[in-house]
Amino acid sequence: MKIALATKNPGKIREIRSILEGLSIELAGLDELSIKELPPEDGRTFKENALKKARFVSQKAGLPAIADDSGLEVDALGGRPGVYSARYGGRTDRDRYMKLLEELKDIPDKERTARFRCVIALVTPDGEERTFEGVLEGRISTEPRGRYGFGYDPVFYIPHRGKTLAEIQPEEKNLISHRAMALKKLRDYLSGRTHLT
Ligand code: IMP
Repeated sequence: MKIALATKNPGKIREIRSILEGLSIELAGLDELSIKELPPEDGRTFKENALKKARFVSQKAGLPAIADDSGLEVDALGGRPGVYSARYGGRTDRDRYMKLLEELKDIPDKERTARFRCVIALVTPDGEERTFEGVLEGRISTEPRGRYGFGYDPVFYIPHRGKTLAEIQPEEKNLISHRAMALKKLRDYLSGRTHLT
């Protein structure tokens, strides 16, 4: 079974390939499908954005397609930056997490709860649509720590590990991350299917 992957991010492609390994699925990237652009992520939820990208690629490629959307929800900010995580302000990842620390500077430790959320959408040319969600709970630290990962990892503290996500080795992050959780649900779903139309 061949499935199109609606992402341009090489890190995500690697992670998706490694989690789906072992299933008899051939994954086709956007380059291979000659798809140059994805629709804008202008939905109000991760689910809307993921579905929008998967629908677009499935229609263009005439294949089942998977897409993801993810971001950080901070309770003290009423769930912001959420779907705007990539566009929260500033040019670099560091600009964005420093802005977040500044916004939270008067918020005490126990109110700094947050979560990463990821939604993966699977859409087939026949119009079958499914979504799979993964969540990683944590807290926003008061200063950045660690050098692994990307995005908000240096300020996302996992209490039971006593570390930020950027202090956790990538292989270990890939076992516990929101994206890994959503992908495992997708894998379980696909392993029960012999074909998608
Ligand atoms: P997208 O899913 O590629 O639209 O990414 C959304 C944004 O959420 C990223 O640019 C990051 O800022 C943030 N984000 C999503 N997942 C992670 C993660 O695992 N670590 C750190 N930041 C993340």
